Amino acid sequence: MPHNPFFSVVALLIKTLTLPNPNLISQLLLPLPLRYSPVTALNSLLRQLLRCGRFPQALALFSAALEAKTSPLDCFSFSIMIHGFCFSGQLRGALDLLTLFESRGGPPNVVMYTTLIDGCCKNGDLEEAERLFKRIGEVGLVPNELTYTVMINGYFRHGLQRHGFDLYNEMRGKGVLPNLYTYNSLIAECCRCRDLDRAFKLFDEMRESGVSHNVVTYNTLLGGLCREKRTTDALKLFDKMTKEGIRPNLITFNLLIDGYGKEGNMSKAMSTLDYMKVSGFLPNIVTYNMLINGFSQAGDLVGTANIYREMKERDLSPTKVTYTILIDAFARGNDMKRAFDVYYAMERAGKEVDVYTYGVLMRGLCEEGNLKDAWKLFESMSEKKQKPSNVIYDTMIYGHCKEGSSYRALRMGSCARQKLF
Ligand SMILES: *[C@@H]1O[C@H](CO)[C@@H](O)[C@H](O)[C@H]1NC(C)=O
Repeated sequence: MPHNPFFSVVALLIKTLTLPNPNLISQLLLPLPLRYSPVTALNSLLRQLLRCGRFPQALALFSAALEAKTSPLDCFSFSIMIHGFCFSGQLRGALDLLTLFESRGGPPNVVMYTTLIDGCCKNGDLEEAERLFKRIGEVGLVPNELTYTVMINGYFRHGLQRHGFDLYNEMRGKGVLPNLYTYNSLIAECCRCRDLDRAFKLFDEMRESGVSHNVVTYNTLLGGLCREKRTTDALKLFDKMTKEGIRPNLITFNLLIDGYGKEGNMSKAMSTLDYMKVSGFLPNIVTYNMLINGFSQAGDLVGTANIYREMKERDLSPTKVTYTILIDAFARGNDMKRAFDVYYAMERAGKEVDVYTYGVLMRGLCEEGNLKDAWKLFESMSEKKQKPSNVIYDTMIYGHCKEGSSYRALRMGSCARQKLF
């Protein structure tokens, strides 16, 4: 076998790797001989290691190749590793790698900068991202649509909406065409700020620019509409989406169900659930939590109990959110027996009961005039090292007043003052 730096690197890799599964090595190497050239092979190995979440091993391999005099590294190897550093949150390493690449005389490319800017934005270092963005021009490169998109996203992420839109205008001014991801971020930002008119303008602009919508575009707008309780418009948009040949996903249905639930239109929420099932989607725990919440907000205890039963029949385990909503619903409906059944189930499931839920239960008991059990619950809170909130003290005071025991109410009040202030 002729001497080839690639093989010495792989030999080193095999020594360095501490993989739980030795088969992985052969799996990684299997596709390599097909497009054999030391550097492409090395790069593909690096990529695959990162894809398997093995950053340290990729770094070991990269360093070994760096130390070898006949190193087969190229700009892609550096790009891959810069991405790896950013992805594992080690921004410093990524920046050092760029410096190293430049000092070796390699002309940096815009992909490296884009990756780094994205990494900086996601790790909260907006200043560094801006510095890098400026530097692109200084080293004679031109930002592409992806570079602009990650920078715009960075601004949005940091609440700087104006900056983001200014950069978007700059981008268009320079003749860089926005792509699907650019539009999706802009639309999401508009929906977040409840500026649906602008969101829909961008949506229309996409068609004019020849950029196709995808399911994310539609889900973002559907969510925006449902949040504004505009379910009729949401349904129209849903029809438009299917006419455009875009398949809704689980999130689409959950958004619609939540929209109807928030509006209190439970018959429509339930028919959407049926439609979801016939379309081949299995409702998940989020779907059920939304339905349970809708029924309980509508004060429909029978509906709440039925949907809770269906959820359990489907072997979905209630989350803390599910329990909390249910306890809230039953306690507000003065069905304290059911509320406590859920409370015990929650404890059995090992879910932490929060102060809010304690408050809801105590309020229910006080409404019933059951001060004895309210006290028991109050005391069990301190056993569990839960600090009563002012709402809880208020509830207990309310309970005593309701019972006509002003003396106890006053004592509770002074107790609350001592604990809270
Ligand atoms: C529920 O939504 C449907 C369709 O939008 C509507 O026709 C119906 O009147 C709504 N029902 C209630 C109770 O709001």
